[in-house]
Amino acid sequence: MNQYREQFSLDPRVAYLNHGSFGSVPKVVAEAQREIQLLDESNPNLFFRTTLPRLHDEARMFVAKWLGTTPELFAFVPNASQGVITAAGALISKPRSQIVATSLGYGGVLNGLAEIARRTQSTLRIAEIDFASGAQTADDIADSVFAALTNETNLVVLDQITSETALLLPVDQIMRTIRRVAPQARVVIDGAHGPGMLTPALPTDFDVWVGNFHKWICAPRASAGLVCRSSEIASQMVPLAPSWDFESGFPKSFFSQGTDDYSSYLATPNAIKFHESIGADKLDKHNREVLDDVATMLHEHWGTEPVVPVEMSCPWMRLVRLPLKKQLTKPQSDALTLKISQELKTETVIVSPGDATFVRLSAFIYNEPADFEKLKQVPDLVSKL
Ligand SMILES: Cc1ncc(COP(=O)(O)O)c(C=O)c1O
Repeated sequence: MNQYREQFSLDPRVAYLNHGSFGSVPKVVAEAQREIQLLDESNPNLFFRTTLPRLHDEARMFVAKWLGTTPELFAFVPNASQGVITAAGALISKPRSQIVATSLGYGGVLNGLAEIARRTQSTLRIAEIDFASGAQTADDIADSVFAALTNETNLVVLDQITSETALLLPVDQIMRTIRRVAPQARVVIDGAHGPGMLTPALPTDFDVWVGNFHKWICAPRASAGLVCRSSEIASQMVPLAPSWDFESGFPKSFFSQGTDDYSSYLATPNAIKFHESIGADKLDKHNREVLDDVATMLHEHWGTEPVVPVEMSCPWMRLVRLPLKKQLTKPQSDALTLKISQELKTETVIVSPGDATFVRLSAFIYNEPADFEKLKQVPDLVSKL
């Protein structure tokens, strides 16, 4: 077994090939979180009134520095969904605004944007990125966003890495287009998959960036960060639930969200240290090599072809097309994901974007190519659905 596998609590009977959805917490990081919880439990009054604010500030300073920003521009948020919706809601301050997002955006975030649009009588324009035609280039994707922008656009929400389709969007190129064509627009980058996988995690240009630490940094769930480009943007940030310290503004207003278990934020520096103990280069090399190997193996076995050029695929997740005559529906894809879990003791995710069905593979430091062998049997399971 791979030497890193035993550093995680993953069930040794299961091939765990979906780090991308919910991450997985190394034992040493889980222990650090548990110590914080025990400290809390030993004296909740002292912890919440005195110790927590200090530890929270220390964690915030550590993580802001690691991201390459300043603590005044950084706040913890529970997850990318809440962070992106919070930022979008805060930036849409006027009724009848115009929001632009892409058709490959995260479903939960698109739902949130639709609700913000409804409440503010704004319009949500979707830049259609045609995944069905396969090999999209960076120019095609930038053109799709360009076509959705108008001189009325107030807000653009853009993924660094798309969720279901695992595409690495050309964010810097798209940002240049937005700044040129719609300079009035604010841009929120959904960097849910960025921290840990992309170095640096922050793109060159953005107004607000949100990224998860509980995916590729392996922080305990739930832990994510929200970064503002400037103090002017920070002054517009309003937490989802305005509460204590609201008058202090960002980032303090984001901390005072009532009694909760904040140990996942406080243990995020431990997760970053775990990541650094392996090294970004080693992680990147390992994960890419495993994915390259297994994608080739499965494509050859199934007689299918890659649909996305490697440079557009995100580094640590990859779609491999299944050899099926018909695309599976969403309920069928979900049922197949469960069948794979039950019959092959393998955790992965089946997705059906565009006009075909794929297995979305993730590779992390605890994976070896042999973990993916059983996936060869996936097409045989389809007849059992
Ligand atoms: C692009 C993108 N945005 C948002 C999310 C949601 O993340 P969370 O469930 O942590 O809010 C994901 C999850 O995979 C994602 O890929």
